[in-house]
Amino acid sequence: MAVTDVADQGRIRTVVEELEQVLLEFIRKHQITHSEYRAATDLIIDSIKAGEESLLFDVFFEAEATDVGNLGRECSPEAIEGPFYLPGAPVLTGPLNVMPQRPDEKGEPLLFHGRVTGTDGKPLGGVELDLWHADADGLYSNIHPNIPDYNLRGRFTSEPDGTFRVLTILPPPYEIPKDGPTGTVLRALGRHFFRPAHLHIKLRRRDYEEMTSQLYFQGGEYLDNDVAGAVRDGLVIALHTVDDTTLIAEQGLNRPYTDARYDFVLAPAPAHQA
Ligand SMILES: [Fe+2]
Repeated sequence: MAVTDVADQGRIRTVVEELEQVLLEFIRKHQITHSEYRAATDLIIDSIKAGEESLLFDVFFEAEATDVGNLGRECSPEAIEGPFYLPGAPVLTGPLNVMPQRPDEKGEPLLFHGRVTGTDGKPLGGVELDLWHADADGLYSNIHPNIPDYNLRGRFTSEPDGTFRVLTILPPPYEIPKDGPTGTVLRALGRHFFRPAHLHIKLRRRDYEEMTSQLYFQGGEYLDNDVAGAVRDGLVIALHTVDDTTLIAEQGLNRPYTDARYDFVLAPAPAHQA
């Protein structure tokens, strides 16, 4: 959404004028000098030149904005999108969807499955689930070099009973890019660059509100000190190892896999609310 898409011009005026006042007070309180002010604006300009404008702001502020958006919601909590989403991922065909991956894709197999319902508890078929995540080296296709386009990015649809399942690999914790302006700031603050392992997902159905989520894994590293400060209790899911040979064969695998379940609840779009 662009600022020009905000229908309420009064809202824009309110928040921009208040932000202006907050920053003016901040400059006075901390006696920010002209050179310090220029260093700050140069940092933003440099982040744009480095393609990090989203990363810089997402690391510090996006989780707070999603918390505000989740207040009073009856549906599943939203989570940060992060800077690495890409529209137009390949469409997968079920009932067992397999994420696009290299023939020798590294990583433990992960079966991610669950059910989508509305806030009334009724199952929702025909929901598009748009999943993306890092590879076993913590890298994203179309962002980092030498990875096939749309690797580990895919869209699939929930079944009429609301269920979905997709076979992929278990992503690891990873360091966000640290060689650009965002890394410079984090280093100056003495912070590390790691995010806990996670899946990114968007859910869409025409008559329901689109939802962006991010799911983390119980027991994983960096859950308590995510560089983006984005982990929330309702977004941490359990992992189970499955070594039953029948179930392994059902997934078309020849080795044990990890099973993770999450059930999504979508809210009706305002025009479709009863
Ligand atoms: Fe990510």
